[in-house]
Amino acid sequence: MLPTHRPRRNRKSQVIRDMVQETRLTAHDFIYPLFLTEGQNKTEEIKSMPGIVRFTADRIIDEIGQCIELGVKAFAPFPNINDALKDRLARESANPDGLYLKTVADIKRQFPDVVLMTDVAMDPYSSDGHDGVVDAESGEILNDATLEILGQMALAQARAGADIIGPSDMMDGRVAWIRRVLDANAFQHVSIMSYTAKYASAFYGPFRDALASAPKKGDKKSYQMNPANRREALRELALDEAEGADMVMVKPALSYLDVIMDVKAHTHLPVTAYNVSGEYAMVKAAAQNGWLDGERTMLEVLLSIKRAGADAILTYFAKEAAAVLRRG
Ligand code: PBG
Repeated sequence: MLPTHRPRRNRKSQVIRDMVQETRLTAHDFIYPLFLTEGQNKTEEIKSMPGIVRFTADRIIDEIGQCIELGVKAFAPFPNINDALKDRLARESANPDGLYLKTVADIKRQFPDVVLMTDVAMDPYSSDGHDGVVDAESGEILNDATLEILGQMALAQARAGADIIGPSDMMDGRVAWIRRVLDANAFQHVSIMSYTAKYASAFYGPFRDALASAPKKGDKKSYQMNPANRREALRELALDEAEGADMVMVKPALSYLDVIMDVKAHTHLPVTAYNVSGEYAMVKAAAQNGWLDGERTMLEVLLSIKRAGADAILTYFAKEAAAVLRRG
């Protein structure tokens, strides 16, 4: 019997395919993570992230200017801190004259309209390479002692001009804690995008190269989530909503599309996803070997993350993808 239903009719020409397309990427979808380093007028390559560099404060201004031209207007800076400035309590994280906060303030001065999402977690500043305080004897990560430090860090970032605070540490109760500190200091207008379901993932390797922030001992499994768990993401979501998060995030993205979809189905808040360093590195490595078409793969990855339910995507592809989308 011949088919009575022919879905191929909706695919028969480019114009029809465009007409019935369900998901579309635009430069507005992207938040671009940027790596900062000390010094002047230089960039440093990151071996495991081809095409991504660390920028000195002066060079980051040029980079942001170029991104704005392409329609990318939201950025998530991360600092590569000198080892000499790292300590157990991440004190450098609240230093208004340090690399990170000075650069954040500088960017906001030059580009008041861009959205800056600053990262709250101890790891870039911690001599232990952990997101929380490490108990010197037991090696345990101390949740409540960490909250104190995260609150101070968030406050210092708000003072520097952050639009969105992004707690990536996975300590319990940090969204409520940070909200209270911000509100008590007249920063009611500063948003919180919580890393709601952040998994203990192997895909963070290249990021840790970029910041030299890998744990000195142990792993992050006592605070980041087990990749095997899906329902647990909804528990974290309920808590972050109750604690006052404005936006929620799933991280990584590509191996967690089911989690993005679940979180989207259970919240009215905007959902973001972090297309992390290892996901970027995989595509770049395969493309460099000639094993994949890098550009098409990039767009397919980003599209799939949006199709799963992400309203915005943190991605190292932001600038490149925006340039491709502009070209059409
Ligand atoms: C740490 C942090 C990590 C990333 C963002 N913030 C790594 C980690 O948890 O060890 C990873 C992002 C990426 O891989 O692109 N607070």
